[in-house]
Amino acid sequence: MSNKINSFEEYLSEYKKSVEDPESFWASKAEDFEWMKPWDKVLEWNFKEPKIEWFINGKLNITQNCLDRHLHSRGDQVAILWEPNDPKDNAISFTYSELYEQVCKTANMLKNNGAKKGDRICIYMPMIPELAIAVLACARIGAIHSVVFAGFSAKALADRIQDCDCNIVLTSDGAYRGAKSIALKKIVDDSLVTCPMIDTVIVLKRTGEPVTMEEGRDVWWHDEMKECSSDCTPTEMDAEDELFILYTSGSTGKPKGVVHTTGGYMVYTEYSFKNVFQYNEGDIYWCTADIGWITGHSYIIYGPLLSGATTLMFEGVPTWPDAGRFWDIVEKHNVNIFYTAPTAIRALQACGDEFVNGRDMNSLRVLGTVGEPINEEAWTWYNEKVGNKNCPIVDTWWQTETGGILISPLAGHTPLKPSYATLPLPGVQPLLVDNEGKEIEGNGVEGNLCMKFPWPSIIRTTYGDHERCRQTYFSTYENLYFTGDGCKRDENGLYRITGRVDDVINVSGHRLGTAEIEDAIDEYDNVVETAVVGYPHAIKGQGVYAYVICHSPDVDHDLMRQEILSKVTEIIGPIAKPDKIQFVTGLPKTRSGKIMRRILRKIAEGETDKLGDITTLLDPSVVEEIKSGALSN
Ligand code: PRX
Repeated sequence: MSNKINSFEEYLSEYKKSVEDPESFWASKAEDFEWMKPWDKVLEWNFKEPKIEWFINGKLNITQNCLDRHLHSRGDQVAILWEPNDPKDNAISFTYSELYEQVCKTANMLKNNGAKKGDRICIYMPMIPELAIAVLACARIGAIHSVVFAGFSAKALADRIQDCDCNIVLTSDGAYRGAKSIALKKIVDDSLVTCPMIDTVIVLKRTGEPVTMEEGRDVWWHDEMKECSSDCTPTEMDAEDELFILYTSGSTGKPKGVVHTTGGYMVYTEYSFKNVFQYNEGDIYWCTADIGWITGHSYIIYGPLLSGATTLMFEGVPTWPDAGRFWDIVEKHNVNIFYTAPTAIRALQACGDEFVNGRDMNSLRVLGTVGEPINEEAWTWYNEKVGNKNCPIVDTWWQTETGGILISPLAGHTPLKPSYATLPLPGVQPLLVDNEGKEIEGNGVEGNLCMKFPWPSIIRTTYGDHERCRQTYFSTYENLYFTGDGCKRDENGLYRITGRVDDVINVSGHRLGTAEIEDAIDEYDNVVETAVVGYPHAIKGQGVYAYVICHSPDVDHDLMRQEILSKVTEIIGPIAKPDKIQFVTGLPKTRSGKIMRRILRKIAEGETDKLGDITTLLDPSVVEEIKSGALSN
């Protein structure tokens, strides 16, 4: 298979080439695709503005490369294999030809509803095949998709629709999630009260529950599809035309819309997919992420389809009807490559080995993890119980902003070390810096993880606010992309990500800004001020710990806790609900009014004897009060 590395020695030589001459290296990878017009120049960049352009003046459509390009050689091969929420319902598959037809029809449906190149289309849907089809249909006509995870609240959805000024929403009547059904259309209706920019809502029937359809705005997907032709010429896109926006949380303010463009993203997601997972023709590949996150974009849809793979999509949850559901699916569909999050592994491990034992999982060849550091205990269980000590585990480190996996073993080639993401992919040039931005050279060191050279799928901007992009990623250290992560490099040069060094927390692999949660809690009437920090949580990786000051301290704390949880669910969604709420009368602040989170983190971690210097605090006595009231872990 072209572009595939077949040994560790080959990895080393490819890596060397990619650093010595990045332009020829990536040009040789890009040549494998169909371009409507070749590029004039491979790369122009500076991290100052930042301005990063790959495959300049190249013209293409990514769906032509995901679909049309494969029709001749693998039209009858399954492209998407969909496993529904309820194991009693049948799985459904779409061959490459069928997927092509569905994408073209849906693209025509969007056009008939007024969608044009450059429009932003919001997709708020459950994990059903039409979600992947909708994403590709947008890309087919050059509309920019903005997928919003269907677990976000009406308010969070409205913020995202408003921020990038979408004109169409694609949704469904409801969604199944395990034993629950969620009224998605109702959430969309609530969000649209503050989104006058939306002209059209296209609603797919999934659960059949009753919904309100607003005359002149809402239409049914199946009605709109009826007359649509299955021919749709792919719209010509510039390599740097925007492909999608995906919102992600940072240390400050509201989530930002990370923008990825067409050409570089295409080249990098395919290259990284094939190499990290060592995909072989005919493999059944399953990534358990939701398409509402970057992992779903890059490694359920684009990377696998660009590579001509069979990608499995699962609608349900790992623990329903029981904690053996993942393993049943592996057995049923003979999954070869399985990619999930450490939080899911820990949750399933906690349910007991009986759910894994007895399933035939001999089809598995490669296992992967993503989203958060994996602890050794979970790694060992995954290796022994799921992989039967036979499958390399690729611990893949990357971010919404990186578009694709940057640091990871190549399955079967790179020597593994539990909890280490190991080595950078070709084209990726990491370095560690101290807090002053000075490079930390050598091995056996630790620092802030940065990148010194662009790779093709690097973030281009944050939607509508380029300055925010510059400030967040490119201004902390001069001429470097700063990831926000801390990282160790061991004696052999292997990388281990230690976690965020900013005010971002990672709860069950979901990235949340502490400021965002604080703002949501502050919306509650009786709250004066809040400080949120992360703390170690056995299943979720990190839990949310909120210190809250109330106006009237003698309120019913249990009731107030419940109401704070509802407020956070209403403003962000259930994923952001605090695990612990401690009511306090003051917060540790410096004389300039800055909250010393370091102290709050230590208390939340139960390390009250390691608070360090607190003499610079305005009122050191608050620390004693917080310590004595701390909730035991
Ligand atoms: O802290 C790192 C953590 O997840 C962050 C990125 O989150 P998000 O943009 O939501 O993307 C998640 C899926 C790519 C990173 O800054 N992270 C991601 N993968 C790993 C990880 N931490 C440790 N090990 C990983 N393999």
